[in-house]
Amino acid sequence: MKENEKRTEILIERARVEQRVAELAVEIVEGYEGKDFVAVAVLKGAYIFMADLHRALWDAGVDCEVDFVELSSYEGGTESSKNPRITRDLDRDVAGKEVLVVEDIVDTGWSLDFLERYLIQKGVTRVKKVALLSKPSRREIEVKVDYVGFEVEGWVEGCGLDTDQKGRGNPNVVVVKVIDE
Ligand code: IMP
Ligand code: MG
Repeated sequence: MKENEKRTEILIERARVEQRVAELAVEIVEGYEGKDFVAVAVLKGAYIFMADLHRALWDAGVDCEVDFVELSSYEGGTESSKNPRITRDLDRDVAGKEVLVVEDIVDTGWSLDFLERYLIQKGVTRVKKVALLSKPSRREIEVKVDYVGFEVEGWVEGCGLDTDQKGRGNPNVVVVKVIDE
């Protein structure tokens, strides 16, 4: 998509995102009842949410470990291939640990469902999931998302989310309108 074919509109302002991330951190900390966990972010989309959430978790009293995985599911387009693969694996052995998966957005649910199975197969004792955004109307796979920042519709960018690798740095969540002519 070229820049001049694209128009964006603010859906969620930066200040509202920051406030919601702080609320999520408090909810998450309450849910772990003092137990240790590893936060695992899904690259690339979740890197900004992960950084914000990690600091908010710290503010809420938790010093958790972090790790990263990268999945390929979209391969450049905007439709899920329904066949995610790990393209960058965890650095750490997570067997016997609790994991909090940190996602930018849950769309069809294929990626999160795949990652949860993968982590359980690696010996993770409990997998919880947080997503900054969710599109429940698009779900193809029933996957429980324990903590959701906001429910959205349409194609969105910002806060780490991209369109063809662009738009990630926008501190607001914006919805993308494609102009046809
Ligand atoms: P799912 O497997 O369909 O749930 O896809 C989830 C992944 O697709 C997310 O982690 C995002 O990387 C990407 N994705 C889904 N919807 C959007 C969107 O509206 N904007 C940007 N990326 C998206
Ligand atoms: Mg993602």
